[in-house]
Amino acid sequence: RTTAVILAGGTGQRVGLSIPKQLLKIAGKAVIEHTLTTFERADSIDDIIVLMAPGYVPDVEKIVAKAGLKKVTKVIEGGSTRNETTERAISALGEGLAEGEDRNVLFHDAVRPLLSERVIDDCVTALERYQAVDVAIPSADTIIVTRTHGEDGEFITEIPDRSRLRRGQTPQAFKLSTIRRAYEVAAGDPNFQATDDCSVVLKYLPDVPIHVVAGDEYNMKVTQPVDVFIADKLFQLASTAAPEQADEEAYRELLTGKTVVVFGG
Ligand code: CTP
Repeated sequence: RTTAVILAGGTGQRVGLSIPKQLLKIAGKAVIEHTLTTFERADSIDDIIVLMAPGYVPDVEKIVAKAGLKKVTKVIEGGSTRNETTERAISALGEGLAEGEDRNVLFHDAVRPLLSERVIDDCVTALERYQAVDVAIPSADTIIVTRTHGEDGEFITEIPDRSRLRRGQTPQAFKLSTIRRAYEVAAGDPNFQATDDCSVVLKYLPDVPIHVVAGDEYNMKVTQPVDVFIADKLFQLASTAAPEQADEEAYRELLTGKTVVVFGG
């Protein structure tokens, strides 16, 4: 059995609207509705639970009812950090589990509405062999590591080899028993700090290999105000053609506002 956990407990400070960014309408639908619809349609997903920002649970319930999303079994409040939201999901999932029973869980950021079914399926398939799976893409930018020296500002301490660097996306997929164990060990660490779930497994269950599945460029996280605009354009492009085969002409039309520029002409 495979459950999708939609992490929507944040308030979207960086986008800076008066409502959480997952409720913002892009391409005619709330961001979270796009995300939920993708999981609803995926054959490899049996059920979905949503962890929503406090005070906004009824908004999600309305979206679920209106869109007729039948796989959504629970909408509950998230925690004050992303990891706390994950922990709440783990306990909510444990409630329905018989002794010795396990299941697959895919944790996905509500604010990545352009996830493809291909990535979901690859995660579920990878869980047949591995207990922990991440989704990542290569980095086009060079990544530098810095240190801040008081008022003089930041300085480079390291430039890691770009060919080995990846940008982590979501879903992050686990056997429920594995991610639960990782959080149990983490609970004993007074300095616990993390921003994602794979880093909890990496740090507290170092013997568990974390397999990496290829993500895609469309699977962006709506984080900054400019991302709202980019996501809107990507939806237009995605509705013209599947991301993998987005046709060049449609792409040019979008970028140029219908004037097709002939490159090299
Ligand atoms: N998230 C969550 N619970 C939290 C914080 C974040 O479930 N307490 C979720 C967000 O809703 C989002 C995902 O984690 O779907 C990725 O987080 P991020 O983009 O950082 O979202 P926000 O915390 O909402 O953004 P910001 O940091 O700008 O406030």
